[in-house]
Amino acid sequence: MDLIELTEAEFARFRDLVYRTCGIRVAENKRVLMSNRIRRRLRATGIDGYSRYYDFLRSPAGKAEMQPFLDVVTTNETYFFRDDAHYRWLADEFLPEMIREAGERRRPRSLRLWSAACSTGEEPYSIALKVAARRPDLAGWRLEVLGTDLSATALAAARAAAYDERALHRVGPEDRRAFFDEGPPGRWTVRPDVRSLATFRPHNLLDRMTGEPFDCVFLKNVLIYFDAASKQKVVDVVLAALAKGGRLVVGPTEGIHGMLGGLEKVKTWLYRKGG
Ligand SMILES: C[S@@+](CC[C@H](N)C(=O)[O-])C[C@H]1O[C@@H](n2cnc3c(N)ncnc32)[C@H](O)[C@@H]1O
Repeated sequence: MDLIELTEAEFARFRDLVYRTCGIRVAENKRVLMSNRIRRRLRATGIDGYSRYYDFLRSPAGKAEMQPFLDVVTTNETYFFRDDAHYRWLADEFLPEMIREAGERRRPRSLRLWSAACSTGEEPYSIALKVAARRPDLAGWRLEVLGTDLSATALAAARAAAYDERALHRVGPEDRRAFFDEGPPGRWTVRPDVRSLATFRPHNLLDRMTGEPFDCVFLKNVLIYFDAASKQKVVDVVLAALAKGGRLVVGPTEGIHGMLGGLEKVKTWLYRKGG
């Protein structure tokens, strides 16, 4: 199959589809990149031509192709303890505060944390590692770290919980010994007692979040390619899911600071919901 690039019209249809599905605005100068990425799916499906592939994607028979399509056009880049300061705050300020407040009977002995757009799991497991390190103080607590993502492929990797050196480059030897099993060499699996803290499920950030509110939400490195309207939708979803007094940890590229006026700003990347 000797395919060249998407035409402008084809590119516009795919861009529109990506935007409507997950809120990402593919930049106009990304036509060659998109062509190359979609070409991989043409090869995999044996479909001859971008327009035919688009029609297939939109047809009932192509429903299952939506996931691999989104996987090639989104980025899953992540690693353990990305943004060191966020995890220092979690371990040294947030968890001690929760433990203290529960000791004074000012909050229930339960903690729900949400890693929104968790990709392959490094972020929720980084959170779970910090929670696991405080286990003696959290005995008898109801603990949950929820990881959600649009990508079922990424979530399958998260559930498998096996990582390479690149993902672990910020994890020190002590944490490796305490929270991971090594083997084969260079391959590390998160230990079952940490894994049991984390659950994973698919969720599109443009959709309402169901279930009990969260005490802390990590929303990082996902909104960079969202436009203002989609960012606002995501912000509304996340704020509705946050418990009173809950914290929101925002990544360096989200560009939503102007939309968080209803929250108290604690640090440049940390917000608190009043109440
Ligand atoms: C670069 S990763 C960020 C992972 C992690 N939060 C971090 O900071 O390392 C971005 C993730 O966002 C997911 N994503 C993109 N659009 C989404 C949407 N509308 N809803 C949920 N997840 C989405 C992608 O599948 C990808 O796994």
